[in-house]
Amino acid sequence: MNNHSENSVVQSTGTITGESVPDAGSANPAEPAVEVINIIRTYKVGNNEVHALRGVSLMVQPGKWVGVRGRSGSGKTTLLNCIGGLDHPNSGTVRCFSKEITHMSDSQLTRWRREEVGYIFQSFALLPTLSAWENIELPIRIAGNRDRRGRTRYCIDLVGLRKWANHRPYEMSGGQQQRVAIARALANQPKLLLADEPTGELDSTTAREILTLFRHIVDAEGVTLLMTSHDPIVLEYVDEVVELQDGQRVDINGG
Ligand SMILES: Nc1ncnc2c1ncn2[C@@H]1O[C@H](COP(=O)(O)OP(=O)(O)OP(=O)(O)O)[C@@H](O)[C@H]1O
Ligand SMILES: [Mg+2]
Repeated sequence: MNNHSENSVVQSTGTITGESVPDAGSANPAEPAVEVINIIRTYKVGNNEVHALRGVSLMVQPGKWVGVRGRSGSGKTTLLNCIGGLDHPNSGTVRCFSKEITHMSDSQLTRWRREEVGYIFQSFALLPTLSAWENIELPIRIAGNRDRRGRTRYCIDLVGLRKWANHRPYEMSGGQQQRVAIARALANQPKLLLADEPTGELDSTTAREILTLFRHIVDAEGVTLLMTSHDPIVLEYVDEVVELQDGQRVDINGG
């Protein structure tokens, strides 16, 4: 496993039916949430080149949950990071809600990441000196959004942690910490959630609770979710699966 980008953040339906989504936030149901067109990402390591993504395309409709599967090193995290603007493809296009991520300036990208995307990582990436409440509230403070208290309360209730608001991460179980991280990711009402192996450090019962919570969030909040995972139980919860092998799609809709 790797989590190249954890420190940099304080925080497809392949079978596209075009069906309308009951409540996809401010998203226009006709416009894809995510469009990835033939992205290539190659890393130089010494004199060698590592071909992490060799021309990957995918489309995700708003309000859907897409799981990205594949063996270790198949390019899952790289794909997620290229979509989330934490990494840059060498070529190809990434569009989210019609905004072209691949052509944004650094300041546009920073703003977009802060306001429109929520990131969730395997190891939670909470700030250890802050309480659950303060961790969730922090991105709202940074963005300068209004109704900080109301939104923090809404998010903490959504993940079922009101009684734990004043606890620090070390006083909480892994599942509770991941709930805090999910609430934090939702704090600024992003249209897109990107979760990299979010159940990777949890036992299977807790993993199922977290996956049930994600299902509820996608259905009730209308957010779009892209999640990488090794765990086959994720397949029971997602709307669609994208399978990667050696940096290429090998699922039925792969292009
Ligand atoms: N910053 C980097 N520098 C060099 N090589 C990298 C970098 N990030 C990823 N890679 C390489 O790119 C390939 C794809 O890595 P990636 O992390 O996307 O795989 P993954 O499917 O997420 O794996 P895992 O399941 O272990 O998390 C691997 O060979 C990896 O070593
Ligand atoms: Mg990974």
